[in-house]
Amino acid sequence: MKRVLVSGGAGYIGSHVTVELINAGYDVVVADNMSNCDLTCFEGVKKITGRDDIPFIEMDCCDDAAVADLFSKYRIDAVIHFAAFKAVGESVAEPVKYYRNNLDSFLNILEAAKTHGGCNVLFSSSATVYGETDKLPVTEESPRQPATSPYGNTKQICEDILRDVVKAAAGYDAMEPGADRKGVVKGIALRYFNPIGAHPSALIGELPRGVPNNLVPYITQTAIGKRECLSIFGNDYPTPDGTCLRDYIDVVDLAKAHVAAVGRMLDGKMEESYEIFNIGTGRPVSVLELVNAFEKVNGLKLNYRFAPRRAGDTTAIWADPMRANRELGWKAERTLEETLASAWAWEKHIAGK
Ligand code: UD1
Repeated sequence: MKRVLVSGGAGYIGSHVTVELINAGYDVVVADNMSNCDLTCFEGVKKITGRDDIPFIEMDCCDDAAVADLFSKYRIDAVIHFAAFKAVGESVAEPVKYYRNNLDSFLNILEAAKTHGGCNVLFSSSATVYGETDKLPVTEESPRQPATSPYGNTKQICEDILRDVVKAAAGYDAMEPGADRKGVVKGIALRYFNPIGAHPSALIGELPRGVPNNLVPYITQTAIGKRECLSIFGNDYPTPDGTCLRDYIDVVDLAKAHVAAVGRMLDGKMEESYEIFNIGTGRPVSVLELVNAFEKVNGLKLNYRFAPRRAGDTTAIWADPMRANRELGWKAERTLEETLASAWAWEKHIAGK
């Protein structure tokens, strides 16, 4: 059985990915430093999968000795690397913290992967690398724009690091038979659009600390009474209803894309040693449409008001997901309504209602 290391596997996306990997028959090792989560989601993963024996290592991937130790202890066939800070605003205020954490952890993983004979590495990237563009939808060939935050920059830099590491390892292919091929690394970067929603069991989901920055947790917390009123940032954008357009991808669909990508790497199906895929639905949805859909599917009224634009927001971005559809045999399946119902069920679950 192939073994996948999920770094940051106790977090929002990592926990959903762990469930889908186990459902697909992989052995999974979860490593997390618990800096942005507690054990709620990992406990949920155990309940959903009925598995009490998933190895969980509380460790920081910035600790190179701990990462090396992990690779010595377990034979790892593939790594899915989530362990990173992700708050855009905080990254602007504390860039060193972001560069230190997001780069060090990834470098340690890559170094250990190489030292232990190489493996497949899947990096969790973001549509933020495309920045503001009016050529929509974006394909993987769309140019990346200079990052608008240190967080976004770490995504770009880590993509480049993975590309270079893979390129160096590809040189091994030209070696004489019998040469030491230790250290071959293949890589995939998945560029997520806007992940939202929760597992249909409502046992795992997003657990933001403090005031949420992202739209859907802010909506669900407003609906449950934890926040007074949602501010819709800007209704004067050049879009049909004046609010921003995004591509909201269900987190379970997103998790399944990881399983497809890991399978592609492990089954030797990659066409290039480093590949990039957009993971989105291909459908733009405005903030107002999303709010209306949330109200309708959950049968409630949300307290919201229009507020000034938020600095750094792009007007519109959505994916062309054709490459992932074709090459990974993956497609977003859950409807926006199902996803928003799952987000609400999760909020009620954590509120104990
Ligand atoms: C941000 C990050 C992205 C990351 C994603 C998910 C950037 C520029 N964006 O995307 O990399 O993958 O989060 O973590 O790096 N909105 C409101 N009111 C709110 C909150 C949001 O109106 O209280 C609006 C925003 O203006 C935006 C939309 O909702 O138009 C989505 O915002 P958000 O959920 O924060 O995601 P992004 O900024 O698109």
